[in-house]
Amino acid sequence: MRDFTPKAAVVAPAPSQERAEYEHPHLLQNYRRTPINIVRGEGCELIDDRGNRYLDFVAGIAVCALGHAHPAIAKAIGAQAATLVQASNLYHHEPAGMLATELARRSGFGRVFFCNSGAEANEAAIKLARKLAFRKGETERRTILACRGSFHGRSLGTLAATDNPKYQEGFGPLPAGFAFTPFNDIAALDKALDRSVAAFIVEPIQGESGVHPADPAFLAEARRLCSERGALLIFDEIQCGMGRLGTLFAFETFDVRPDVVTIAKALSNGLPIGAMLIDEQAASGLQPGDHGTTFGGSPVPCAAGLAHLLLRDQLDLDAHVKQVGALLWDGLVSLAADFPQAFAPPRGRGLMLGLPVREPFEAKSFMEAARLEKKLLINAAGNNTIRIIPPLIVSAKQIEDGLARLRAATQSVLAASIAASQSRSAT
Ligand SMILES: Cc1ncc(COP(=O)(O)O)c(C=O)c1O
Repeated sequence: MRDFTPKAAVVAPAPSQERAEYEHPHLLQNYRRTPINIVRGEGCELIDDRGNRYLDFVAGIAVCALGHAHPAIAKAIGAQAATLVQASNLYHHEPAGMLATELARRSGFGRVFFCNSGAEANEAAIKLARKLAFRKGETERRTILACRGSFHGRSLGTLAATDNPKYQEGFGPLPAGFAFTPFNDIAALDKALDRSVAAFIVEPIQGESGVHPADPAFLAEARRLCSERGALLIFDEIQCGMGRLGTLFAFETFDVRPDVVTIAKALSNGLPIGAMLIDEQAASGLQPGDHGTTFGGSPVPCAAGLAHLLLRDQLDLDAHVKQVGALLWDGLVSLAADFPQAFAPPRGRGLMLGLPVREPFEAKSFMEAARLEKKLLINAAGNNTIRIIPPLIVSAKQIEDGLARLRAATQSVLAASIAASQSRSAT
C-alpha cells in the first residue's frame, strides 16, 4: 500500500526566504537560482555548504559526462594550466590541433572550429552558411530555417533562430533572415526549404523545449531536401551530442549525416568550449579573417576535451549509456504507468529523458520535493517536463536509487495535493 500521509517536509520553504540567504548583492539577477550553495562535486554527487549530498541528475545541464572532479580530467587541466593557458589564435599550439584531430577522426568531418559556448558554435554555423552561399555567388540565399520549439542559444543571431517568444521579448530588432518550420512535419519542410534557404538547423532531440526527439524520417528527408536544394544541413548537438544518446554524435544514433555539427556542453566535461565540425566541402565558406574569437580553442579546455575523449573509450561509455539509459527508461515508464494522474509516458533516448507532467501538477513541485526530501537534483524543461540528464558514468545502482527517490518525491507531491484539496473542501 502506498503511504499518502502528508509529511511536513512536503511544504517547501517559501522561495524568497530560502533564497535570501545566498543571493549575492553584486550578481546580476538574471537567473532564478535554486537556494543551495554547491561547494564540491564527486562523481555523480554534488555537496552543499551544509554537507548535504545530492544525487545529481542534472550534470551541469548535460555537461559533466564523466561526473564531477574526475581525477583524469583534473590532472589534464592541471598539467596544461602549469604549461600554457593562452597563446591566442595568432599561433599554433598542440592541444587545439590534437583535439581537432580526435574529433575529425571520430566524426569524419574534416575541419573543426573552436569557440567557447554552444551559442558561439551555432553563431559560427549560421555565419558559415551565409558566407558559403555568398562565396558561391548565391547572394539571395540568406535564410536560416529552424524548427518550431527550437533552442539554439541566447546571442542575437542564435536567439533569432530560437522559437521562444519569452526569450526574444524586448531584445528586438533581432537579425533578419530567420524562418521556422514545424518540427517533424516533412510536408511543411518540403514547402519551407526553398532556394532562399542557406541552412536548415535542427536539434536531433530538442532539449530546452521539453525533450522532443526528431523522427528519423524527418531528419532523413531534411538531408535529402537540403542536398537537392543546395542548403546546408546543420545538426545542433550541443545538448544531445557527446555521448548522451549512447553514440558519440547524435547523427550516428539517427543515421543521418549533416554538413555541419555543433557541439559544446560535455566536450570538455565542464570547461567552457564549443566546436563546429564541418564537412570539407562546406569549410571553404570561412577563410582567414572571416571569423574568430580570442579564447576559442585555448589550451586548457582543449586538453580537458582530449582527456575526455580518450577516457570515454577506456570506459566503453557508449555501451554503458545504452545499458543504464534502458534502465532509466524502464523506470520512468513504470513511474508514469503507476501515477498516470501526474505523468504522461517519457520521451527521449539514452540518458536524455523527459517525463511530461500532467496538469494541474507542475514539474517544479516534483523538482522541489526531490531536492528537499530526497536529495535528488532533477531539472525542468519546456512547459512542464521533468528533464533527466545525469552524468554518463552514472551506475545502474545510482539509476535505481534516483528512480526510488523520484518515486518517493512523487508520492509526497500527490499526498500534499490530496491533503490540500481535503482541507479546501473542509473549509
Ligand atoms: C541545443 C542547444 N543549443 C544551443 C545551446 C546554447 O549553448 P550555451 O548555453 O553554451 O551558449 C544550448 C544550451 O542549452 C542547447 O541546449
